[in-house]
Amino acid sequence: MEQTRVVHRESLYGSTGVSGRLVGVGVGPGDPELLTVKGLRALREADEVFVPVGDTGEIGRAEAVVKEHLGEDAARIRRLLFALSDDAEARARNWINSAQEVAEALRRDANCAFATIGDPNLYSTFTYLARAVREIVPEVEVDTVPGITAMQELASRSGTVLLVGEERLALLPFTAGKSELRSSLDGFETVVCYKGGGRLDEVLEVAREAGRLEDGTYGSWLGMEGGEIVRLPEMLGREGTYLSTVIFTRGDEGGRGI
Ligand SMILES: C[S@@+](CC[C@H](N)C(=O)[O-])C[C@H]1O[C@@H](n2cnc3c(N)ncnc32)[C@H](O)[C@@H]1O
Repeated sequence: MEQTRVVHRESLYGSTGVSGRLVGVGVGPGDPELLTVKGLRALREADEVFVPVGDTGEIGRAEAVVKEHLGEDAARIRRLLFALSDDAEARARNWINSAQEVAEALRRDANCAFATIGDPNLYSTFTYLARAVREIVPEVEVDTVPGITAMQELASRSGTVLLVGEERLALLPFTAGKSELRSSLDGFETVVCYKGGGRLDEVLEVAREAGRLEDGTYGSWLGMEGGEIVRLPEMLGREGTYLSTVIFTRGDEGGRGI
């Protein structure tokens, strides 16, 4: 009988020269109640809680969720600056600085958590941060705690069933381009668009051409003030925002109870 080979973390990363570990904690899309019990525990147990902040200095969404829960412990929060601008040099500098800050804490054997919006393994800053930290501290133990994604939150709030039976889902950025979106709409029952709602006009155009405009649901700033959920045709002539998600579904189960 074939045996399943289990590769333990120790054998993947070798014995560690630092005893601090780094854990990426998904804190959900914005509603503080969507942080999991496990995520909360990871944040409470960490010696240092890092959060991403844009170069505008504005408190980030991950930080807002963490603050809701940590109360007095919020003093342990440390902001890592990530440039949002198109300046590639500034972005690279920020990556290095942030990774160095985390590496320095790990070398003091601090257990570090990095709070990130949604899930840490889905289009997340955490992936890049962990990679940059490993370049400095290759032996570091890295873990993640899953988080509820924007796609799940939009499905729930709009009464949309994402998939049933044998259906399949494609997830792609708004910026993937018209032909990518078109082939996803043709080939998958459910299609989700993330990142770059500024390109919403293209999504609307392709959806109309594919006859799937009516299948779409648009959600922005989910779980936050000013958030909105509407049927996609209502977005015709309007601009999308970066913090928006679109779900296309097919079939009777789609619900779209909005
Ligand atoms: C860099 S990705 C992060 C995805 C995140 N890791 C997740 O698991 O949902 C950012 C994109 O996620 C989506 N998103 C995240 N939070 C959202 C929210 N509260 N409302 C609407 N869309 C959201 C948007 O498409 C946004 O452009």
